[in-house]
Amino acid sequence: MRRIILDTYEDVCRAAADVYTEQLKEKPNSVLGLATGSTPIGLYDELVRRYDAGALDFSKARSFNLDEYYPIKKDHPQSYNYFMRKHLFDKINISKYSLPNGEAADAEAECLRYDVEISDAGGIDLMLLGIGHNGHIGFNEPAVSYPMGTTHVELAKSSVDANSRFFGLDETQPTEALTMGIGEIMRCKKIILLITGEGKAEIAMKLFERKIHTDIPACFLKLHPDTTVFLDRAAARDIIVFEEALKRERIKAVQEWTGLRG
Ligand code: PGA
Repeated sequence: MRRIILDTYEDVCRAAADVYTEQLKEKPNSVLGLATGSTPIGLYDELVRRYDAGALDFSKARSFNLDEYYPIKKDHPQSYNYFMRKHLFDKINISKYSLPNGEAADAEAECLRYDVEISDAGGIDLMLLGIGHNGHIGFNEPAVSYPMGTTHVELAKSSVDANSRFFGLDETQPTEALTMGIGEIMRCKKIILLITGEGKAEIAMKLFERKIHTDIPACFLKLHPDTTVFLDRAAARDIIVFEEALKRERIKAVQEWTGLRG
């Protein structure tokens, strides 16, 4: 898992847009994996800017989103389908996009259908991920076992609380979702994970400990052969403090050692 720390949120969005630009240049008919949440909005704005400027063409590409609330109507303003159309799909020329269907009558059948659709498309070339404060990726919440394929899940209370900011007092907030499983995510050829803002400093620190915490779903990415994590300095705050302290300690140890020898 590679790590790139950049100064600002905007820098992270530009760097992630560069990865998408490069991917589409190399393989115009790429299968793109996409995510929702506050984090990718700046990336989507940047992709739209580049598309408007003629620097990006999505006409041969198609996409799959990570997850969707369940049940939810496509046109509900808080559905991920609506979010994606508003921030990206309505503004670019992507040939086809898919999300798990939050309107499906049978959630379990919909999960199986979604896995088959992804596999028929040849799998995902480049997957975008955000991370929850509890370390979730997609809606794979901390657990003792994790699904391989797309699954119907109950959201952790912390995820419901974190997303409540998007729902009005008179709106019912879904507490279930359909999400790609950890196995599906691990099968993506290349992954980028964006971590931004001070609120993610603690989980970012845990992710980069030299351990696999089984209760932090994002730790699975340490086992993926081509994952890059982009962080802004705010999210990397604790990592930077820790590594600077470590460096100081090492310098002190070397100085003491050379002092002893001298
Ligand atoms: P956020 O969500 O970008 O809104 O912080 C990320 C996530 O929960 O995966």
